[in-house]
Amino acid sequence: MTIALRDLGAPAEIDAIDPLAHPLQAYIDELHERHLACREGQVADYIPQLGRADPDWFGIAIATADGHVYLTGDADVPFSIQSISKPFVYGLALEDHGLDEVSRYVGVEPSGEAFNSISLDPVTGRPSNPMINAGAIASAGLVEADNPTDRINRILDMFARFVGHDVAIDGDVYRSESDTGFRNRAIANLLRNFEILQGDPDEVLDVYFQQCAILTSCRDLAVMGATLAAGGVCPITSERAISERTVRHMLSLMATCGMYDYAGEWVFRVGMPAKSGVAGGVLGVLPGQLGVAVFSPPLDAKGNSVRGIRVFNDLAAMLGLHMFHRTDPSHTFIRNRYSGRNVRSRRQRNSVQTQTLDRLGEKVGVWELQGYLPVYGAELVIRDVLANSRDMTHVVFDLRRITGVQQSSAMMLARFAVDATEHGRAIVFAHAEPHAAMTQAIDAAFGSLPQRPARVCADTDAAIEWCEDRLLDESLCQRPVSLASIEQFDLLNALTAEELDVMRDLLEERYAAPGEYLMRQGDEPDGVYFLVSGTASVLLEGDRPIRVATCSPVITVGEMSLLERRPRSATVRADDPMHYLVLTLDSFDRLRAEHTEIALKVMENVGRDLSTKLRQANTQIEALSD
Ligand code: DON
Repeated sequence: MTIALRDLGAPAEIDAIDPLAHPLQAYIDELHERHLACREGQVADYIPQLGRADPDWFGIAIATADGHVYLTGDADVPFSIQSISKPFVYGLALEDHGLDEVSRYVGVEPSGEAFNSISLDPVTGRPSNPMINAGAIASAGLVEADNPTDRINRILDMFARFVGHDVAIDGDVYRSESDTGFRNRAIANLLRNFEILQGDPDEVLDVYFQQCAILTSCRDLAVMGATLAAGGVCPITSERAISERTVRHMLSLMATCGMYDYAGEWVFRVGMPAKSGVAGGVLGVLPGQLGVAVFSPPLDAKGNSVRGIRVFNDLAAMLGLHMFHRTDPSHTFIRNRYSGRNVRSRRQRNSVQTQTLDRLGEKVGVWELQGYLPVYGAELVIRDVLANSRDMTHVVFDLRRITGVQQSSAMMLARFAVDATEHGRAIVFAHAEPHAAMTQAIDAAFGSLPQRPARVCADTDAAIEWCEDRLLDESLCQRPVSLASIEQFDLLNALTAEELDVMRDLLEERYAAPGEYLMRQGDEPDGVYFLVSGTASVLLEGDRPIRVATCSPVITVGEMSLLERRPRSATVRADDPMHYLVLTLDSFDRLRAEHTEIALKVMENVGRDLSTKLRQANTQIEALSD
């Protein structure tokens, strides 16, 4: 399953039947549970039809800039969009006339006043901004159209582009507001007086009432947010809903005026451009990353959904979603992914173990990550793992090439590791140590558990080795070796019982203390070593010594000396107390003279071993090359 970098496009869909869930789903489920019992706030009833809403309705949705949607609670319950329509209709007016022309009729200054304030410039009559009703009605009047029907149809078409499907108007809500909206009627007439509106103010007001009654849902709002997050292209249809420049203007106004007289506090605490509506919806956008929507009808005194504000506050704190949080322009977080079948650890294995790993290596997956990992990076990485690790029991996150990790991303990865462990999938973090946020998150996530099932390995090789050992343990491939069971050495394959007895007589027992050299690079060779217990490192000495392999029982070292009596090509040093058997070159010469057929079998085994190693090296080079 090795995938070249160029093939790593958008991650595949997560298999719906995988019991292992994405932490983002768990986060919103938890927030839903946490705030469900909240009884504060009042359902808006100044539009009589809105007063019929069920105060218990509560949904949360997150849509990523690449179109993946996470939902919880009443995320598909339809409700009227209300004021959340305002930045979108303003955007349409900007598309029609450009910023300079629109600014003659509507300003961009936060008024710090309530949504229905009559905040008009005393001389020009220009509303402070398009988020208060006065500015929104003026914006509706600026949408280019021959007649009111055309105008609302253009608005509906635009919403359809944002959301990826046709949208409808709730007739009851529209009529209810139209019958009772005396204050808005007064505002429209004032705007007409100052010639901010041209023509019949009632006609424009009618369009405004209809735009407020457009039906939406948490899911749809989150997708609209994701469209803004993606620079104006709907991630569901890949269709452009609005120009990138207009998106920037819309988001600026949502950031400064979207939450009315709560805007300052909102930007400070939550830090996402947002817009609320009196039906109970709140939409937040994290540019480049996500759209978030909450729906819960009870409102606070400022006209914002109580649960909505709470969920956004918690979510922002949990995920560090603030727009001023550092981000990286790189969107490629997964540099490469490959399986343990193609890339092996440097631990030398005998043929039985090698064959076992040929068979089971697909159960290990390595994800090489890169760049700075913000929340949406972690979200995407986990989604990719979920989509591609169904048959794996081990997943390695190779963090060598990441430049940093946002604390909330680290927490999300650590939480994923806990969940994965509970579902029988071991997660191993390689090269995590330089990233304190990552190691702290792992400690915090696993702290209360009796043992730490997610491993933090110094490097990817150690991580893969750990996974391989577990696979071999599970398949009972790691049997202890002794003089009595030397048939386990690949070099003695196909020898009969009598031939093995001949070999036993020739093998000399030796021991090495930790740190002691079994052989040094450049030494004259004295024979081949059969490791019985303990581990040794194979090192290439030079200005910067490198470990090229780790050897443990049933592995032989120095077998090339049987082929060519040239100086040793590498150093072998004991990592812990070692017991090994040596077939000296003198003994091998005797074997050749007295038991030619045994010597021939040994040489065939050496040849086979070298050819296996060469093939494995080729597969590995292919898997790791970009
Ligand atoms: O103008 C009105 O009264 C409504 N149709 C929209 C108000 C609204 O949603 C205010 N937002 N919190």
